[in-house]
Amino acid sequence: MAKKRIMSGMRPTGSLHLGNYFGALENWVRLQDEYQCFFSIVDWHALTTGYEDTAELKENIIEMAIDWLSAGLDPNKSTIFVQSNIKEIAELHLLLSMTVPLSWLERCPTYKDQLLQLREKNIATYGFLGYPNLQAADILIHKAEVVPVGEDQLAHLELSREIARRFNHMFGVTFPEPAAKLNQIKLLPGLDGRKMSKSYNNTIALSDSPDVIREKVRSMITDPQKIKKDDPGHPDVCSVYGFHKVFSESEHKDIYDICVQGGIGCVGCKKKLADNVISYMAPMYEKRQALVSDKSTIIDILKSGTKQAKEAARETIREVREKMNLLELE
Ligand code: TRP
Ligand code: SF4
Repeated sequence: MAKKRIMSGMRPTGSLHLGNYFGALENWVRLQDEYQCFFSIVDWHALTTGYEDTAELKENIIEMAIDWLSAGLDPNKSTIFVQSNIKEIAELHLLLSMTVPLSWLERCPTYKDQLLQLREKNIATYGFLGYPNLQAADILIHKAEVVPVGEDQLAHLELSREIARRFNHMFGVTFPEPAAKLNQIKLLPGLDGRKMSKSYNNTIALSDSPDVIREKVRSMITDPQKIKKDDPGHPDVCSVYGFHKVFSESEHKDIYDICVQGGIGCVGCKKKLADNVISYMAPMYEKRQALVSDKSTIIDILKSGTKQAKEAARETIREVREKMNLLELE
């Protein structure tokens, strides 16, 4: 049986961290064997909110490719590409925009939300309003049936299905209605116990070296009531323990008990954690070292992924143009 098609994307807005890894990327890596996968670095989507300062966009795209490849996305299994190099996506975005009612976009919860939250960014733009339409074009150009995403993207997926349905109804069945596949996530707190997020400055980046990781773990906040080594601790309120649950699979139950009994100090507990995080990330770190010293390989991988993605996109656009009765002169 032919493998089902998956499509997903991430905005290149700077280096990924472990929260992004356990929230999305780890799923993508796993899905590569079961599905035919298209993974897109969605630089146009990054522009919808970041158009005022594009100075780092190019570097961020390369950085995203390095993060993805070192985390285990495999160009021999998946098609990895850069959105803005597939002009067919822009054409589909335009054609779909003719059919999408304004009210669908205006009532999208992420639209209203972001307008409020990013007030300083001046995103009351035509491009940002069209964000979900652009996302639908990403998905539909590759006729993806399944889209692995986080919960925050469910509204966008619902819109993509509505947009596909409307097109199919008006011009004949062309697109499968894409289903969201919720990422299985491992909950990892930030270094300070809040949600891991770049804006809180509490992350471990996929690109952090072992030394940096050790230092970050050393400065993590623990149970404030555990001051001396043999004070009994409360692992449930301790972010170090939150990390142990993810990185110390075989030992974390023991660590819990010893902490509660006051049998281990936080310094030793963190040392153990740093060792485990570093050894978990070692294969990623090695791959990264090989990649960063060989930029031309990264470019070649993106080029060949983009070429593959383009071929598939061309076919869809040909079909769409025909169904909409556009005159073909070439
Ligand atoms: N909007 C998605 C996000 O912020 C990124 C994205 C763009 C995407 N195009 C996509 C995700 C297509 C899935 C499929 O995470
Ligand atoms: Fe947290 Fe470990 Fe200290 Fe317990 S011993 S409070 S789990 S750092």
